[in-house]
Amino acid sequence: MNDVWILGIESSCDETSVSIVKNGNEEIATVVLSQMDTHANYGGVVPEIASRMHVENITLVIEECLKKASMKMEDITAIAVTYGPGLIGSLLVGVTSATTLAYLYQKPLIPVHHIAGHIYANNLEQPMQFPLIALVVSGGHTDLIYMKDNYSFEKIGGTLDDAVGEAYDKVARVASIPYPGGPLVDKLSYEGEDAYSLPTPLDDTSYNFSFSGLKSAVINLVHNEKQRGNTINEADLACSFQTRVVDILTKKTLRALKQYHVNNLIVAGGVAANSGLRNRLKTLCEENQIHLSFPSLKYCTDNAAMIAAAGYFAYNLGRKSGYDLKAKATDVLH
Ligand code: KG4
Ligand code: ZN
Repeated sequence: MNDVWILGIESSCDETSVSIVKNGNEEIATVVLSQMDTHANYGGVVPEIASRMHVENITLVIEECLKKASMKMEDITAIAVTYGPGLIGSLLVGVTSATTLAYLYQKPLIPVHHIAGHIYANNLEQPMQFPLIALVVSGGHTDLIYMKDNYSFEKIGGTLDDAVGEAYDKVARVASIPYPGGPLVDKLSYEGEDAYSLPTPLDDTSYNFSFSGLKSAVINLVHNEKQRGNTINEADLACSFQTRVVDILTKKTLRALKQYHVNNLIVAGGVAANSGLRNRLKTLCEENQIHLSFPSLKYCTDNAAMIAAAGYFAYNLGRKSGYDLKAKATDVLH
């Protein structure tokens, strides 16, 4: 079989990224230009600034990636791009660049759902084994997905309100932990104890999640303590919050694995970098003889290698688009 070289483009939020991946599992070169420092000044991503920065950088990032791989556009088999979901202005930059390149070089254009990308980041570590359950935990998603095979996504549960990464970032903000809060709350949690009595998020028989009650409890606690003139122990707060989050994520995931008679678990999305979640799942999966896969840390947060990896499987399944591909701010994973 001929080798397939996919050039992936990701620009759905605040990372401009381009990557070349061979046969869906071998990363040849990746460039990620993060705008995090700029957005940190505002305490979160400013969509208008994000899209403007993508416009400024996308051409340079494409050139840099090809140079790093010592390849030319002519060597590329197909172009994969995140078409959604995400910030519409940001997505448009990636989609327009991919469409233009595909048209210019007459290459197939492969639309990739951002969450499919996060899931296929796992294939860059080891071949994904089916059937599997994917726990998707990112800034915009908290989903449990059953996959019988490649590109077969059956959502069995999801967030009813805030996504888990979003809850991390909001809790961090109220506790005056700088943006992006998730990684810092994770780090801090190891310096504290589970000393604050916080509510357990939606612990029912469904596979849905709800983190807004937990988030509000943290916000109220911080405000009340401030009003009383008391200081908050940030490390204890981080530990209590992370314990509640990890407890419910692991509990529902384990139940899904059992109910669906699946013994492969993959974790995907920015919060897959969370060390509390990684450690707890490692222990639980060992105890229950479940094969566990995480992306390496660099592939947990947004990057184009994951888009190129997913693009390979989409390409093999003939999931091509015309050059009139539209960016979509929201779209169901399919
Ligand atoms: O997947 P991602 O890069 O972007 C989206 O597609 O949403 O995820 C970003 C999210 C942010 O909310 C960030 O705070 C969170 O992932 N995050 C973490 C950790 N590292 C990143 N949350 C908890 N613990 C971490 N170590
Ligand atoms: Zn993402």
